[in-house]
Amino acid sequence: MSFRLEQVSLTHANGFVALSGISLAVAAGERIAVVGPSGAGKTTLLRLLGAALRPSSGGIELLGAAPWALPARELRALRARIGVVHQAPPLPPRQRVVTAVLAGRLGQWPLWKSLASLVYPADIAGARAALARLDLGERLFDRCDRISGGQLQRVGIARVLYQRPELILADEPVSALDPALARQAVRVLGEDAAARGATLVASLHAVDLALAEFPRIVGVKDGRIAFDLPAAEVGEARLHALYAGEGEALPLLADEPRFAAQPVDAGPARRGACC
Ligand SMILES: Nc1ncnc2c1ncn2[C@@H]1O[C@H](COP(=O)(O)OP(=O)(O)OP(=O)(O)O)[C@@H](O)[C@H]1O
Ligand SMILES: [Mg+2]
Repeated sequence: MSFRLEQVSLTHANGFVALSGISLAVAAGERIAVVGPSGAGKTTLLRLLGAALRPSSGGIELLGAAPWALPARELRALRARIGVVHQAPPLPPRQRVVTAVLAGRLGQWPLWKSLASLVYPADIAGARAALARLDLGERLFDRCDRISGGQLQRVGIARVLYQRPELILADEPVSALDPALARQAVRVLGEDAAARGATLVASLHAVDLALAEFPRIVGVKDGRIAFDLPAAEVGEARLHALYAGEGEALPLLADEPRFAAQPVDAGPARRGACC
């Protein structure tokens, strides 16, 4: 078992109930997409699974442990076994790409190695190999604040590939990428997880990408699980119900919002080309 949530609820400090009565069991090696409208609770759910947020009530078992019963040191060790891909990676602006990727293993390295790596990157070949899987092998020594939003997002993915965690939590990991790159990046994550027997949970804006690339789909709405089904059983009606009130159309890959897009990302001519 990778993780199990039992009747988990989460109320934010301001009293807002972001998740209520969530029960979800996921076996090691499963690949799951979490879909649902904005504000549904997808990020909150992933933060719970990363032991970054503590449930207000209910039980959580994560990689065989009860995270919130662990002493601080063991909780840190547990978090080091989990890799998080953020929508906008929180990287120090002047950091080099290579350092950002190598940071994926900071939690696994002794302190001396981490500090030395800030001065002279410890494993340039390893970082390059991870970046090359996302066509960024040549950007190793670029500064993170001088690459595009889409490239930065792929650096965040390369970091988690380099980390090799047992559980990958990817929160809208391809929202800044054009459709072809988005598909490629999600595939790379899926292949990496499959090859290593790791579990992958990705929240995705694009339902077509979720259905095409993930065997199991969890729909979240208003802080609750609306459905939890094999991709083939989801069906359009269920998706329309999930996104009811969000407009007529379902969010598809070509609609992904982009920021700081590379030239290839932009332009109406490309939109929809892949879908
Ligand atoms: N720190 C917080 N304090 C209070 N409310 C919060 C906090 N963080 C999130 N929320 C609220 O919890 C709800 C769920 O937020 P969450 O970020 O999990 O949604 P989401 O499904 O990831 O949305 P999106 O698709 O826009 O990223 C939202 O209504 C949000 O406003
Ligand atoms: Mg979110």
